Amino acid sequence: MNKTIIVSNRLPLQIDISNDKLRITPSVGGLATGMKSVHEEGKTLWIGWSGLKEEDLDDTLTRKVDQAVAQEHCAAVSLTGKDLDNFYYGFSNRTLWPLFHYFMEYTYFENIQWESYKRVNRKFADMVLKHTDDGDTIWIHDYQLLLLPELIKRERPNASIGFFLHIPFPSYEVFRTMPWREELLRGMLGADLLGFHTYDYERHFLSSVRRILRLDTHFNEISYEGRTIRVDSFPMGIDYRKFHNAAIAHGRQNEAQKSDLQKRLDTHLLSTPGAKMILSIDRLDYTKGIPNRLRAFEYFLEKYPQFREKVRFVLLAVPSRSNVPQYQLLKKETDELVGRINGRFSSVSWTPIWYFYRSMPFENLIDLYTSCDVALITPIRDGMNLVAKEYIATRVDQSGILVLSEMAGAAKEMNEALLINPNNFEQIADTLKRALEMPVEEQAERNAFLQQRLERYSVDKWAGEFLKALRATRKLHHVMVSRKLNAEIREQVLLDYYKSKNRLLLLDYDGTLVNFTNKPKEARPDEALYDLLDRLHQTPGTDLVIISGRDKETLGEWFGDRGYTLIAEHGAWKKEGTEDWTPLETLRTDWMQNLKPVLDTFVDRTPGTFLEEKNFSLAWHFRKADPELGQMRATELKTVLTSLISNYELSVLEGNKVIEIKSSNVNKGRASSRMLTEKNYDFIFAMGDDWTDEYMFEQLPDEAVTVKVGIKKSGARYFVHDTEKVRELLEHFLQAGSEDAGIGNTLFFSSKN
Ligand code: ADP
Ligand code: G6P
Repeated sequence: MNKTIIVSNRLPLQIDISNDKLRITPSVGGLATGMKSVHEEGKTLWIGWSGLKEEDLDDTLTRKVDQAVAQEHCAAVSLTGKDLDNFYYGFSNRTLWPLFHYFMEYTYFENIQWESYKRVNRKFADMVLKHTDDGDTIWIHDYQLLLLPELIKRERPNASIGFFLHIPFPSYEVFRTMPWREELLRGMLGADLLGFHTYDYERHFLSSVRRILRLDTHFNEISYEGRTIRVDSFPMGIDYRKFHNAAIAHGRQNEAQKSDLQKRLDTHLLSTPGAKMILSIDRLDYTKGIPNRLRAFEYFLEKYPQFREKVRFVLLAVPSRSNVPQYQLLKKETDELVGRINGRFSSVSWTPIWYFYRSMPFENLIDLYTSCDVALITPIRDGMNLVAKEYIATRVDQSGILVLSEMAGAAKEMNEALLINPNNFEQIADTLKRALEMPVEEQAERNAFLQQRLERYSVDKWAGEFLKALRATRKLHHVMVSRKLNAEIREQVLLDYYKSKNRLLLLDYDGTLVNFTNKPKEARPDEALYDLLDRLHQTPGTDLVIISGRDKETLGEWFGDRGYTLIAEHGAWKKEGTEDWTPLETLRTDWMQNLKPVLDTFVDRTPGTFLEEKNFSLAWHFRKADPELGQMRATELKTVLTSLISNYELSVLEGNKVIEIKSSNVNKGRASSRMLTEKNYDFIFAMGDDWTDEYMFEQLPDEAVTVKVGIKKSGARYFVHDTEKVRELLEHFLQAGSEDAGIGNTLFFSSKN
């Protein structure tokens, strides 16, 4: 049976060694706690780091660790002290973590750490490959493993790979500062499906892909290396039932069953009439806004002194990444702030802040969640924030108020919470007051909505949706692959070619025979192409036609003396052999002087674009423009043109990063149909890459072999991936057509691929 492999830097269990004995505790953090219930559900293997250093393990201990993790359906990747310094504390947590959370001033770019990041991602890849069987699904998690999807895809092209980022993906303006931005994006694009918590992170990622890699995206799909990659948002949920049921059981506890912590909480609540508690729980991380929260609480006590002696703030901070300097500074700052505020406001019977700096067992988390009237969650940036969701899930009687930062991914789906800007102390203080005074009916109303949503979109549902989307993405790929001009189809095409006497080959130029360049003039034919085309042209019974949107001057300069048939400007002109150019249509040009000034304004307003003036058409090229601005202006231009061209017989063609205006009665379809009236062809072949070629595919008879270059929507019967494959196919024609080659050994010699 096929399995799902979960891969993340940290395993859901954390191992410590004392006196040669292993101590296993659950890992903290949204990824581990969330994915744990997915792992417990079905047949999964989880690959990750155990939390130990390779140097601390001898053979016996290593065996013990492997056994312990295997029991939990996990496999451990071992990291050395150096890996930890450079990969974990280094590139992962001093470069990616701060940059992706917009803490640019904390971001540190260091080549040694980058090298280590690559090495450790390779280590993970080896481990995953070792455990992967055909048909398995691999689900990779988070920023520590951005290169892993590509490393696996390269070696297992058929593996189904999903990737989920648990932290924000920053805006392009921030991401572009990363020295290794291309490698990271390409690493991620090894996945078939990329998931983010929110639509904002998704669109930031797509924007970076467009601008940095200059890849085309179509809604949420990216065509890359012959694959279609899907990008989508899946807001992660929690194991709602687990928290809710634990809270119900907690409510039924008698005095003897209560934990010490619960007893202390009760004492406080009972000692003062009207006493209330505010709770916050997070890893001690600068993204969580802990100092801001403390200062805002201090301001709240100043502004609303009526709450002194009554309200207690329970601050639970879990130690995290304490080798990173910023975390050490944060610890110091937090300790000092707590000390100062407690020193300033405490009385004999009241301390405003209860501060815990440690991890706590699940039961104590439930004690805290169920006992506190307000949860104050104020991250400066947070990918999602599961604590906010867990708090709401435990509010069995629907009391309790969540005060939540707008900067947490969770805020996007928790509108009924009281949302605040974590930098606005005035707002936080006022919101705290409002929360503490909120009537229970209003609390219940808000929480009812929140709970319904959390229960419906639980972490199981989230994982299920992600895996369903991954399967759908793979299917989409298969649908496209089924139309691929694969070895079998190619053999049939070559057989038809071989048997035919009069062949017509209609070949588009840019994007088909050569790749696009930033300057159209630079896309000259290379020697190998001339050689290939010359040989095709010289094959008896073969009419070779270059059919292009290029002007006749350029085509004439490049191919004028080769003897092929040339069709220029999408079918406005034709040149056969050594003859002169003849117009194929009677064309007007009077419209050009009226439209040119309009197009000029688009050139002026859109850096990187230019206008190409052909004999019968005007083409606005935006390949070099910022991709997003270019696309936006293209849409604008099309709208403007719709009203302007109504007086003329003109049409607007959208090519590959070009908008061209030309007479309606000129297109490659009409031009190629004309060719068919001149001779009785028994093999018709057309190949092209953009919308202008679609006219040709549409107009040619059904038996014609039509081929699109690239994976895009098309009326062509088949597709090939790129110009390299185009040339390969033409080379096959030559071999099939060569007189002395026997059909058997010519056609069937390379049926792979
Ligand atoms: P992050 O992933 O950045 O740490 P989240 O709020 O998304 O933040 O996830 C934190 C997870 O860690 C939650 O599931 C929470 O229950 C758990 N957790 C937080 N603090 C503690 C603690 N002191 N002891 C045990 N688990 C904790
Ligand atoms: C966040 C990250 C996780 C990480 C967790 C704990 O939730 O998204 O990838 O595991 O924090 O951090 P740590 O560095 O201890 O693994």
